[in-house]
Amino acid sequence: MGRSHHTSSPLSAAGISSIQAGPLFHTMNFLLETLQVFFLSFYYILEAFVKWFLPSKKKNVVGETVLVTGAGSGIGRLMALEFAARWATLVLWDISKEGIRETAKLVKERSSARVHTYVCDCSDKDDVYRVADQVKREVGDISILINNAGIVTGKKFMDAPDNLIVKTVEVNAMAHFWTYKAFLPAMVANNHGHLVSIASSAGLIGVTGLADYCASKFAAVGFAESVALELQAMGKVGIKTTIVCPFFINTGMFDGCSTKWPRLLPILDPNYVVKKIMHAILTDQVYLFLPRSLYVTMVLKNILPTKLGVLLGQYLGAFNFMDSFKGHGKKD
Ligand SMILES: NC(=O)c1ccc[n+]([C@@H]2O[C@H](COP(=O)([O-])OP(=O)(O)OC[C@H]3O[C@@H](n4cnc5c(N)ncnc54)[C@H](O)[C@@H]3O)[C@@H](O)[C@H]2O)c1
Repeated sequence: MGRSHHTSSPLSAAGISSIQAGPLFHTMNFLLETLQVFFLSFYYILEAFVKWFLPSKKKNVVGETVLVTGAGSGIGRLMALEFAARWATLVLWDISKEGIRETAKLVKERSSARVHTYVCDCSDKDDVYRVADQVKREVGDISILINNAGIVTGKKFMDAPDNLIVKTVEVNAMAHFWTYKAFLPAMVANNHGHLVSIASSAGLIGVTGLADYCASKFAAVGFAESVALELQAMGKVGIKTTIVCPFFINTGMFDGCSTKWPRLLPILDPNYVVKKIMHAILTDQVYLFLPRSLYVTMVLKNILPTKLGVLLGQYLGAFNFMDSFKGHGKKD
């Protein structure tokens, strides 16, 4: 890790070490740092408020090389099409050969962006490293890494087979460790890049019937957030991060699941979700929760008495979201 770029204490910035400094200096330091935090807090809130009203500037991704894992269907496929329309070079990974072939075909029909497809089992560290090396040899470094591949068991915890629990954590969380290990060094060397984690609202709030999935998504959120902070501490501010936490999306992954009050908590349309994800990536937005009511839910979760939180969860149908789960391949 490099040297921290964080605002150092006013006295140490003036070349006075804590050993040289006596109690009076410590008190002054405390007062100065507190004042600094006070003014910066005010400035950051004002900045966020002003930005709310201004149209956000979108970055150009021409010439960027974007890796999307799980690009063979759903959100991953739609994101690939969006990046292709913006002339980025695409590297598409999926465990399904047919899936990425179809995505690549759709990309080629709609744009002349360069597209490279690789079959990769993201649950297998060795496979991730092997395919990552192949990508570096054949395409070059990745500058936008989108960890999107995901699976769900869809069973109550005690009914979930051990191997599926392990697989869920391997695909939804551990794969992110290995892709970062493979592609982050080049981003750090160039102080340029973007790390995108397609997590879930289930990575913020526990859900009945999704214990292993929630565990994997909480891990994905915690991991992405922590590395983002490590990068900031290293002064690598050219590497942006985006953590995406959507509620159910109509891609087939959660087929059969229901929402009690669709107006309050709607099942999301994949095209809408991808539009929001693209906006977040292109404007360097750090967190994206969908739908918007999720931001309020998060605040309430953390401030309300637990019993009231559970009551509201029940009211929103959180105990029964998964009751009629079918998922992929189990359609009527
Ligand atoms: N659909 C939802 O309701 C929903 C909600 C919140 C978050 N998400 C997350 O969004 C992401 C995309 O989901 P989606 O809805 O597009 O689902 P999807 O099933 O359509 O896409 C997931 C893709 O990941 C691929 N994949 C699965 N295991 C893999 C592995 N071991 N190695 C490589 N690829 C693998 C699949 O083949 C598939 O193409 C997932 O991480 C999911 O957890 C989905």
